[in-house]
Amino acid sequence: MADAYIYDAVRTPRGKGKPDGSLHEITPVQLGAQVLNAIVERNNISDDNAPDDAIFGCVMPVGEQGSNIARTAVLMSDLPQTTAGVHVNRFCASALEATNMAAAKVMTGEADLTIAGGVESMSRVPMGADGGALMSDPHVTFHNYVVPQGISADIIATKYGISREDADLYAVESHKRSAKSWERGDFNNQIIPVKDVIGLNVLDKDETIRPTTDMQAMGSLGPAFLGLGEMMPGFDKVALQRYPELEKINHIHTAGNSSGIVDGAAAILIGSKEAGEKLGLKPRARIKAMASCGSEPTIMLTGPEFVTEKVLARSGMSKSDIDRWELNEAFASVVLRYMQAMDLDHSEINVNGGAIAMGHPMGATGAMILGTALGEMERSNKETGLVTLCIGGGMGTATIIERV
Ligand SMILES: CC(C)(COP(=O)(O)OP(=O)(O)OC[C@H]1O[C@@H](n2cnc3c(N)ncnc32)[C@H](O)[C@@H]1OP(=O)(O)O)[C@@H](O)C(=O)NCCC(=O)NCCS
Repeated sequence: MADAYIYDAVRTPRGKGKPDGSLHEITPVQLGAQVLNAIVERNNISDDNAPDDAIFGCVMPVGEQGSNIARTAVLMSDLPQTTAGVHVNRFCASALEATNMAAAKVMTGEADLTIAGGVESMSRVPMGADGGALMSDPHVTFHNYVVPQGISADIIATKYGISREDADLYAVESHKRSAKSWERGDFNNQIIPVKDVIGLNVLDKDETIRPTTDMQAMGSLGPAFLGLGEMMPGFDKVALQRYPELEKINHIHTAGNSSGIVDGAAAILIGSKEAGEKLGLKPRARIKAMASCGSEPTIMLTGPEFVTEKVLARSGMSKSDIDRWELNEAFASVVLRYMQAMDLDHSEINVNGGAIAMGHPMGATGAMILGTALGEMERSNKETGLVTLCIGGGMGTATIIERV
């Protein structure tokens, strides 16, 4: 099997995912094309050495994000038409799944050079826009005790004794770390300012970070998912049927300690050793192992702990071999439970902050946090990183990278 190397990783800044957000006027295809163009420009890509494929995650593939947004973005970018494009949907881990697929193509010899990544304009194509049986067909929901993700996050908190205070403390720290990373310039090498149709910069920095937020501000926010839990027919009742050992669901998650709704895109250049040499590039890291798993769908968001065991076993590594841990901050309880299960200290994980402060543009986040982990490993001169995300429907995806 050939080795798959990471040559570059870029992302847009994340814009507030509402009509008054800075990226709202930029279509998802444009967001995707702009990160592809950055990869072309930064890596001497021309028609003669173009990537075989562009694999893009996108979680709401309807409307402007429909009909294979990866191929559409390629056609709107500076890549030649010979670069194919394929869209993948592993919900919140879509762009990490795209990365793993791109690496697998290189490893098996199906491709020499690939671009992985993803895009989501949550302000233009809102969550839930794609429908689907998982959340709406009573046969599916009844059979699987399906609840919305915010309720799952609250089940995790209740089952594993995570308090509102724990979650708020974690969230305050996420904002502080994200602000500090920006201040230190940790993201400078990855950020591609987004331009409008006449070429003016519309956003060059993540828009939702609150550097001065504190426990008082966090404490003033009401529970975000209490209404869903109590409404008819009552998702709390569904959750308690699946977890009868719990007396009630503690609704500890708020707008402050949940991931933010944002717009953004990311891209990663992955190729063989020879493909990199042809472009005159130095590999930054090798993709060492990758895995996905399914997990219990009602609690839904505990997949990262199981996929971590799987990917470590697959790579012949143990926890102590990992220098940097990156888990998407979907909700505070997701990371706090993972830290409990893996016996990790907060100083070892998400050291640059995460989606609670900077937002979670679902189809792009996997590639964004892989880029963050790689940048941090370079900055702090660490060798190995493990990147993982929790996923709707009860799944986990993970990737281990090592610097070369
Ligand atoms: C939790 C959630 C429902 C909140 O949505 P929302 O109400 O639109 O969130 P907003 O960002 O507008 O915040 C609500 C309020 O809290 C305030 N707020 C948010 N974070 C804050 C903080 N750290 N400090 C102080 N105030 C804060 C906002 O300013 C806003 O106040 P306003 O109503 O006076 O403007 C939404 O963020 C969510 O669904 N997140 C999870 C996304 C998700 O499921 N992703 C996929 C799976 S992980």
